[in-house]
Amino acid sequence: MELYEAIARRRDTRAEFTGRPLDDDVLTRILTAAHMAPSVGMTQPWSFTLVRNPATLDAFHAHVMEERQVFADELSGERAETFAKIKIEGIVESGLGIVVGYDPTTAGEQVLGRHAIADAGLYSAVLAIQNLWLAATAEGVGVGWVSFYREPFLSELVGLPDHVRPIAWLCVGEVENLPDVPDLERFGWRGRSPLETVLHTERYGA
Ligand SMILES: Cc1cc2nc3c(=O)[nH]c(=O)nc-3n(C[C@H](O)[C@H](O)[C@H](O)COP(=O)(O)O)c2cc1C
Repeated sequence: MELYEAIARRRDTRAEFTGRPLDDDVLTRILTAAHMAPSVGMTQPWSFTLVRNPATLDAFHAHVMEERQVFADELSGERAETFAKIKIEGIVESGLGIVVGYDPTTAGEQVLGRHAIADAGLYSAVLAIQNLWLAATAEGVGVGWVSFYREPFLSELVGLPDHVRPIAWLCVGEVENLPDVPDLERFGWRGRSPLETVLHTERYGA
């Protein structure tokens, strides 16, 4: 698949997982792509914890359902009705969760390029996720990012040490298809904006 095609075809997948296990070679290629991401000071501040144990998937799913309700309770009227129709995860169906951790300590104290902007480390870890997502798309594999969780719960669930922050639970697995239209657009929650609305010349707002 061409890069631009993969960028356009990448979708957050939730309902499309078949549950069939991923080929080990495919998973290794996807993780290798993630590990090739750029990182501030070559820190490579990420970790990938693979979770397949059904009991762990169930426990995380139950937690996410509670957090979904917390958000649902903030909504009313049309927003509540629209949100009620949207599936926000495929934790159990995918059969594989990848917990992405951010570890600011991988390269010691003197990180080249992070002295003024601590978040540069976090940006790097997120780029690994984007690499993973695009590589998965090129392989025809689905990825769904779940952020309806409390960080201490997930850390405890998969045993992350205190210095590693859980930044994503990714549902990863074989899918029937990658939808053409993002779910949030399809269900009327929110659509993609045109490029012009985020583009500025010389000074913001111009
Ligand atoms: C940081 C982040 C967190 C997200 N969390 C969730 C989530 O908890 N549940 C969900 O269904 N989608 C989640 N998404 C997916 C977005 O809803 C999705 O990327 C967006 O609607 C655009 O759709 P597309 O990825 O299919 O193009 C998340 C995406 C990102 C980047």
